[in-house]
Amino acid sequence: MIYPIVKYGNPVLEKAAETVTIFDDDLKALIDDMFESMYAAHGVGLAAPQIGIGRRIAVIDVTFKEDPNARLVLINPEIIHTEGKHTQSEGCLSIPDFRENVTRPNKVTVRAQDIRGKVFEKTGEELLARALLHETDHLKGKLYMSHLSTLKRDLMKRKIRKLMKAGEW
Ligand code: NI
Repeated sequence: MIYPIVKYGNPVLEKAAETVTIFDDDLKALIDDMFESMYAAHGVGLAAPQIGIGRRIAVIDVTFKEDPNARLVLINPEIIHTEGKHTQSEGCLSIPDFRENVTRPNKVTVRAQDIRGKVFEKTGEELLARALLHETDHLKGKLYMSHLSTLKRDLMKRKIRKLMKAGEW
């Protein structure tokens, strides 16, 4: 099932998501739906709040279907190590048609649970590091806007409010 993507302005995106404690078939089905919804929206990462579900689940595929082994499921993820710095243009499915340069660590390690609840660690660099950070932020109710200067963030919010008023958001 393809879920519509929740956009900026919906409070679910700015609330900390709840820890997952039950690893059952419903969770598996939800994760399948999250991958399907992410691909349908042409994204390389999706967090559950972005489909209106406030639970600490994210999916990532930085290869966008090219490498089936690149599919990553993160349940209750925590960033446990960061290294370096990297600035790159970043977007978010919940803030469509906007992109901004965001500086983030270049190498990160995340600790998370897999679909069966087993704890694992994964280290990623560059785009994968960025995706791990971006999606983990989502689960804390944090959007990439929060990494921008106040000036840039306010400008983005003003533009979005204009679109909302015009009924184009
Ligand atoms: Ni996002």
